[in-house]
Amino acid sequence: MTGGSGCVIWFTGLSGAGKSTLAEALGGYIRSRGEKVELLDGDIVRKVFPQTGFSKKERDEHIRRMGYLASILERNGVFVIASFISPYRESRDFVRGLCKNFVEVYVSTSLAECEKRDVKGLYRRARAGEISSFTGIDDPYEVPPSPEITIDTAGESVEESLESLVNKLKSLNILE
Ligand SMILES: Nc1ncnc2c1ncn2[C@@H]1O[C@H](COP(=O)(O)OP(=O)(O)O)[C@@H](O)[C@H]1O
Ligand SMILES: [Mg+2]
Repeated sequence: MTGGSGCVIWFTGLSGAGKSTLAEALGGYIRSRGEKVELLDGDIVRKVFPQTGFSKKERDEHIRRMGYLASILERNGVFVIASFISPYRESRDFVRGLCKNFVEVYVSTSLAECEKRDVKGLYRRARAGEISSFTGIDDPYEVPPSPEITIDTAGESVEESLESLVNKLKSLNILE
């Protein structure tokens, strides 16, 4: 793999796109090969720090802090797998600048597909006006202009998406 030098695999995309699902699947795959893996996931971190809001400023701070943490883990040879909506290009690029080996994975699953899945019922609530500042509905998502990897999970099983992700990571020499 990266010869103990660590890396940061950063999933970005809409809610329900498949970031957490693929992050967990990939984490299991890499761990089973004997590497050190840590997962950083937006929903989990937000449970620990429930006061973190969804304004641009709060989202940016949250992402920058998580990116800093990821970079420190990376320095210690960890495969960091991060899954955050991370809607703003500037804060993703800030994280990229902190990390040595940064792989941006844009989970490009469409809004229509995410809304159809509506795993957590949040799109329905956002459409009903019960929650605001919801990415893709009344809050922006800035598409990454040049992610290392793009993956659209619509019409694919998790296993198929994982396989294509692993193949792309191999072609980038992140995995062997
Ligand atoms: N190919 C796929 N890859 C990832 N998730 C998929 C795929 N096909 C269907 N899904 C489903 O889509 C949902 C994605 O939810 P989740 O991973 O929580 O999204 P996110 O973390 O991006 O908000 C899950 O219910 C998952 O089972
Ligand atoms: Mg998630």
